[in-house]
Amino acid sequence: MKINGIAYRSIWRPSDDAKSIRIFDQTRFPWEVEVLELRDVGAVAHAIRSMQVRGAPLIGAVAAYGLVFALQNDASDAALEKAAADLIETRPTAINLRWAIERMVTRLRALTPAERVEAGYVEADAICDEDVQVNEAIGRHGLDLIREIWERKGKTGRVNLLTHCNAGWIATVDWGTALAPIYMAHDEGIPVHVWVDETRPRNQGSLLTAWELGSHGVAHTVIADNAGGHYMQAGDVDMVIVGTDRVTAQGDVANKIGTYLKALAAKDNNVPFWVALPSSTIDWRVRDGVKEIPIEERSQNEVLFMTGLTDNGAPGRVRIAPDNSPAANPAFDVTPARLVTGLITERGRCDASEEGLKGLFPDGQ
Ligand code: MRU
Repeated sequence: MKINGIAYRSIWRPSDDAKSIRIFDQTRFPWEVEVLELRDVGAVAHAIRSMQVRGAPLIGAVAAYGLVFALQNDASDAALEKAAADLIETRPTAINLRWAIERMVTRLRALTPAERVEAGYVEADAICDEDVQVNEAIGRHGLDLIREIWERKGKTGRVNLLTHCNAGWIATVDWGTALAPIYMAHDEGIPVHVWVDETRPRNQGSLLTAWELGSHGVAHTVIADNAGGHYMQAGDVDMVIVGTDRVTAQGDVANKIGTYLKALAAKDNNVPFWVALPSSTIDWRVRDGVKEIPIEERSQNEVLFMTGLTDNGAPGRVRIAPDNSPAANPAFDVTPARLVTGLITERGRCDASEEGLKGLFPDGQ
């Protein structure tokens, strides 16, 4: 996608410095577009933990290069296993991270240590290229849904969508998952409008999704997280579409904290609730998402402080709770499959159920 008319991916390997990667520092958006250079595994682990990079598919791609960086001085089996374990534990909920690392380890373990670094770059590049293709396919399948709504409305007014968190191009290598169909609908001339949940505590909605949509010219309105149900009751939401960090074999969906409440409100108001995901987000090893998906608990400071643009025009942080009040900060929640209208994958749409997923992915992959 483009920033000021220039096409970017959210991660790239510069041709004149191919042993490093570049990412955008997502803690600086939307006020600054700052490119970070990463060239060692420690910097990669820090970028993932601190959410300079974030979004399930993107952290998988970045971690893949992190593994290669770790092997530059020591490409032994022991070094490979240790770096893999260290990277996997940086963020526990998004399964794409483990998926990417396991794919890399499987590929590299079969080679001699001397061959591993070069082959690692090739494999990490492939993970990135495939992510772009997969998201484009998700976009096309989701676009069909938006087109159906537009036709059902007699091609009058606008199609109102609601999204939570950021599942756009900066959460993936390009296109995004939940936002890909929205970009495609907009490009096709369908008048879409997006209700953007601010997504407390880190405000990925108001800081990132609003910035992405605005940069692409997509009409949108930022709303407080608690406003979505109100707009659904008023008939102002045609469809909810979100991304996900992990989908279980029976179709339960882990996503940014607050997604579950949106699904409950959607159910009560007969608003379709769709989840867009690449197949690398399916964790075939778990079934009951509420019981089995580990939920990342992040620093209480993310709740107690807010970051924004201050009156003097510079980004700053303010405390929003009394000095002695503690906070809790679960970063994700689980929406049970029964609340999900369907899943949009690179292979098409399916029910959020074991049968639905197996219909599209018979081999469980
Ligand atoms: O904590 P984050 O910002 O990494 O959480 C991101 C999300 O919850 C996204 O919705 C999810 O990763 C899907 S991104 C295509």
